[in-house]
Amino acid sequence: MDRIHIQGGTPLKGTITIGGAKNAALPLMAASLLTEGTLSLSNLPHLVDISTMAKLLGELGVDISMDGDATGGGHVGRVFRLTAGDLSETTAPYDLVRKMRASVLVLGPLLARAGRARVSLPGGCAIGTRPVDLHLKALEQLGAEIELTEGYIEARAEKGLTGARVVFPMVTVGGTENLLMAACLAKGETVLSNAAREPEVADLAHCLVAMGAKIDGIGTDTLTIQGVDALSGADYSVVPDRIETGTYAIAAAITGGALTIKGARADLLESVFKVLVSAGVDITETQDGLHIARTNGPLKGADMMTEPYPGFPTDMQAQVMTLMAVAQGASMITETIFENRFMHVPELCRMGADINVHGSSAIVRGVESLSGAQVMATDLRASVSLILAGLAAEGETVINRVYHLDRGYERLEEKLSACGANIRRMAE
Ligand code: EPZ
Repeated sequence: MDRIHIQGGTPLKGTITIGGAKNAALPLMAASLLTEGTLSLSNLPHLVDISTMAKLLGELGVDISMDGDATGGGHVGRVFRLTAGDLSETTAPYDLVRKMRASVLVLGPLLARAGRARVSLPGGCAIGTRPVDLHLKALEQLGAEIELTEGYIEARAEKGLTGARVVFPMVTVGGTENLLMAACLAKGETVLSNAAREPEVADLAHCLVAMGAKIDGIGTDTLTIQGVDALSGADYSVVPDRIETGTYAIAAAITGGALTIKGARADLLESVFKVLVSAGVDITETQDGLHIARTNGPLKGADMMTEPYPGFPTDMQAQVMTLMAVAQGASMITETIFENRFMHVPELCRMGADINVHGSSAIVRGVESLSGAQVMATDLRASVSLILAGLAAEGETVINRVYHLDRGYERLEEKLSACGANIRRMAE
């Protein structure tokens, strides 16, 4: 298993280009199942999860061709052309779903297009049990017959799906995405209330409209979809990754450096930037992205609570906690989305952080500095928070099990070392 070694203490300076959003690319790829036309997706990031989704779609009979950057521009975003001519298979097998929970996003499109789907129940993961009960209940409201047998979701809609009024009892990103895709080909009107408003959901909706879907309320918590008989192919570019942007913004702040982040969109991170500015980070918009600096004076502690968009994103909780660990004063961080998303805490404490967890809240008392140590990555965002801690810590930090990182961060050590970080990956 690879390890990452970091010699901390160097303020980062330079430019980082942001890739397409993992959490937009995955549902967008699944949307290719809805049409026999070709869906061409550009600005796709080079990530393990993207390759896993491509493997799954390939097994379902989707023909996928990939190119380098079609525009020949600087950023090496990958272009995928996906064509789900006739679906040879409608089963998403356990060995792929267990590697990537987002595989469940093929359920809605398969049901809508082929009238049946057999998708392995995604097991839990490090951050929580992560059930998909809300996806299933809502699909049943659209007329799907669903049974759970031998760890698989067996779903049928032989006569097609019928539009309905669905109210999600809690905000679910994946649930909204599955239903949005299914409703595009259902008969009649579907209204999704208490829908997720994440930018990645809006990105999917815009792509579906480009494919011929009729969707109103994009970006709000109420999506109204008029079903159509068929969708066509389209060309679509994936939205920039707001979590990758926020992560590198913190890398600049925690090392006392200054980074230009190309391709970043400040409007997707308002709740995060509000916290960073209150902590003393300078953020300015440039014509091709953002400039993030913390070169004058100490950081100040700030409180935050994770919430569905436009609230503070749970996927930035671990990274901001790391920043607060070296800020002056105390911070209260409350995680309201997942039940077990504090696994970075014991690892940060091994590096000298002063953090106490009480239920879903963590009290962080800032310390002068962290010290390098051997630490263990546990899930994608916890892993990157340890990288951030290592960049700021005195001495060497060794992060084990970095395969978690490769699922969501493209060429991370390359991007960081190009900005002065003393970081290297060792295959061990
Ligand atoms: C998406 O996961 C993201 N993944 C997650 O990012 C992100 O943390 C999460 O949304 C919240 O923003 C992708 O987009 C691929 P949810 P998802 O359904 O769709 C509960 C990362 O690091 N729930 O919004 O699985 C669930 O247990 C990943 O990039 C049910 O109870 O999240 C959780 O507590 C991690 N029943 C809460 O809702 C359901 O049927 C939010 O889950 C569905 C969800």
